[in-house]
Amino acid sequence: MRVLSGIQPTGGLHLGNLLGAILRWVRMQDGAECLYFLADLHSLSEYMEPEVRRASVREMAAALIASGIDPAKSILFAQSAVPAHAELCWLLNGTARMGWLNRMTQWKDKAGKNREGASVALFDYPVLQAADILLYQATHVPVGEDQKQHIELTRDIALKFNADFDADVFVPPEPFIGGGAAARVMSLRDGRAKMSKSDPSDMSRVNLTDSDDDIAQKIRKAKTDPEPLPEDPALLEERPEARNLVGILAAMSGESIEQVLARFAGQGFGQFKPVLADALVALLAPLRTRLEEFRRDPAELDRMLADGAERAQQLAAPTLAAAYRAVGLTS
Ligand code: TRP
Repeated sequence: MRVLSGIQPTGGLHLGNLLGAILRWVRMQDGAECLYFLADLHSLSEYMEPEVRRASVREMAAALIASGIDPAKSILFAQSAVPAHAELCWLLNGTARMGWLNRMTQWKDKAGKNREGASVALFDYPVLQAADILLYQATHVPVGEDQKQHIELTRDIALKFNADFDADVFVPPEPFIGGGAAARVMSLRDGRAKMSKSDPSDMSRVNLTDSDDDIAQKIRKAKTDPEPLPEDPALLEERPEARNLVGILAAMSGESIEQVLARFAGQGFGQFKPVLADALVALLAPLRTRLEEFRRDPAELDRMLADGAERAQQLAAPTLAAAYRAVGLTS
């Protein structure tokens, strides 16, 4: 079993990223060989100031380590530091079909009506993602629902490449939905919208850099309803804000929604919210301290990433060489 996943260095990590993806990555470290990377080449699909990009990669790497990704256990690196990703992407561009990429919902959503003005990198994004995965013969790729289509495309590319060149170069991967509950954390202002760094209201999210007071205030002001909490989870279906806050506490404590409700049934949010705020502070305060340490010592962070890139490069080399051979670029 070899696990691989990537995250775009967009900066501004929040509770949604942490509970939805990163803590799941952390939990997988003990059971498998794991590779995690900052998808900085993918970030070229949309314009970003170079300084912002540079800072975001470091910020995100620091946040991953502060959250528990251990560079001694997992291979953590920046995608661009391993040129094999870009190289294999180009080889796979010969195999991927325009029609396949045209059907990708992320492409359709992000390009919107302005396809002519979208970057070629945005269109080709899934092929680079396929290269990320296939380079390391990754068997399990922990991703959210929205990325499943890209993993299926990766399978199609792997199978067509192997068939076209009559070579057993790539292992088709599986999307990996296990690894414990991946909470879908919603906005604190609107229980039907995902918690997002692009929401104009900062009160809608808990950032990893928020102070204890910010956290307490955001939870105190989080939208709810006047009803007490029920015992039956089904009764939360029409109460998205209530469901979200219960879900956050469940994800943090490793309990099910049922277990949390068993503790709070009959109580109102006046009782529930302080418990939630305390739990969030207990989770985030140590993480914030570690983040600040990295900010003071970026050279240490750069060393860790360079070491990760070196190890990743070594794992990638044989597959890249086999792909060059298969297409007839080397003998
Ligand atoms: N596209 C992924 C996302 O937006 C990030 C990503 C890039 C990725 N390459 C990957 C995820 C390879 C898994 C495997 O979340």
